[in-house]
Amino acid sequence: MRTQVAIIGGGPSGLLLAQLLQRRGIDSIVLERKTKDYVLARIRAGVLEQGLVGLLEEAGCADRLHAEGFSHDGTLIAYGDEMFRIDFKEHTGTPVIVYGQTEVTRDLYEAREKAGGPIAFNVEDVVIHGADTDTPHVTYTVDGTTQRVDCDFIAGCDGFHGISRKTIPADLRREYEKVYPFGWLGILSETPPVSHELIYSNTPRGFALASMRNENLCRYYIQCSVDDSIEDWSDDAFWDEFKKRLPADMAAKLVTGPSIEKSIAPLRSFVTEPMRWGRLFLCGDAAHIVPPTGAKGLNTAASDVHYLYNGLREFYETGSADGIDAYSANALSRVWKAERFSWWFSSLMHRYPDQSDFDQRMQIAELEFLRSNKAAQKAMAENYVGLPY
Ligand code: FAD
Ligand code: DHB
Repeated sequence: MRTQVAIIGGGPSGLLLAQLLQRRGIDSIVLERKTKDYVLARIRAGVLEQGLVGLLEEAGCADRLHAEGFSHDGTLIAYGDEMFRIDFKEHTGTPVIVYGQTEVTRDLYEAREKAGGPIAFNVEDVVIHGADTDTPHVTYTVDGTTQRVDCDFIAGCDGFHGISRKTIPADLRREYEKVYPFGWLGILSETPPVSHELIYSNTPRGFALASMRNENLCRYYIQCSVDDSIEDWSDDAFWDEFKKRLPADMAAKLVTGPSIEKSIAPLRSFVTEPMRWGRLFLCGDAAHIVPPTGAKGLNTAASDVHYLYNGLREFYETGSADGIDAYSANALSRVWKAERFSWWFSSLMHRYPDQSDFDQRMQIAELEFLRSNKAAQKAMAENYVGLPY
């Protein structure tokens, strides 16, 4: 078959790009390695910046988000039994929206199906050909049959473990990486949230985060060892540890219950440069990873989609390649700022195995500075709600 844009990966980046292009009459096909149910069962991000909300509106996929999402005007930061609030509304005039990545993805799939846009699931052996020529194509197999898609452009939206990034010759790309010496154990439980606003908690026992999805669905995390597996953590063990990492007044009102999902995620910072090779463009986790502290992963994927969508739109509407030529530089400029914020917030909130007493006092001093200094709060709030595109 022939299409204008071949999109590899049916996660949020690929689906959002497909839907935005579709609304402008630009054809695409989405190639996804897994099944739709598998993609929708992945519990990941929960906090959306206004930029992503705006893109979902433009894609015609924001009705349920507006009806069911929660607007958060601030967040709570705890250290020991101390707690203070960063007021996003006061410092930026903008809230963030709590609405799960699972729901975003579900809405995007629904819109894609309604629009009749092609998606191929269970694809294997995806190979990109001729990305550095004007006539690229992609091959893949489904049910043992090889298919070929000829296209103008390829969007590599296939996540950190995808094939798109590795298609760029090693001598033409540069990778930057930091692996953190801990992971996050997350659970989902059908219990009322301990706090309406999120609590990021730095304690001598390690980091904890109280997040939520709705009035009866909590998403809670604790810092754990990279060597832990979910079998090491019964629900009781999780609740016991989580409680110890909340300020006493919050711990006293925590409602516990059975987990309905439990997973461990490693923490990594990663950026590959450039994000374009010929007619191949990398988007989202295919090009960069942030540690989850500060919820920038999905939001940074969305800003890539913004730059790529507008570049492709300009190309098809005016014939100008200026937008696509500027894609890598524009996307990376914002990516590095999100990397900095996620690294800073992770460094501030976690216990590190080799952390000295001095290092710990530096964390507390920085938290106390943030608590008392309006300029520091404003900088934190601006980054948390999302820097402009
Ligand atoms: P992905 O969501 O990874 O989607 C890529 C898609 O491509 C997948 O569906 C995959 O199956 C498909 N694919 C891969 N290889 C191929 C191939 N060869 N051919 C075809 N298809 C392929 N961010 C936050 O902000 N907060 C969080 O709490 C948070 N938690 C996370 C927990 C985990 C375990 C992980 C892995 C990520 C988490 N993130 C979180 C990050 C956030 O979920 C990602 O930034 C976001 O999913 C990026 O979207 P994406 O579409 O670029 O990539
Ligand atoms: C969630 C995850 C995060 O990494 C974060 O900083 C805030 C919220 C969440 O899953 O709800």
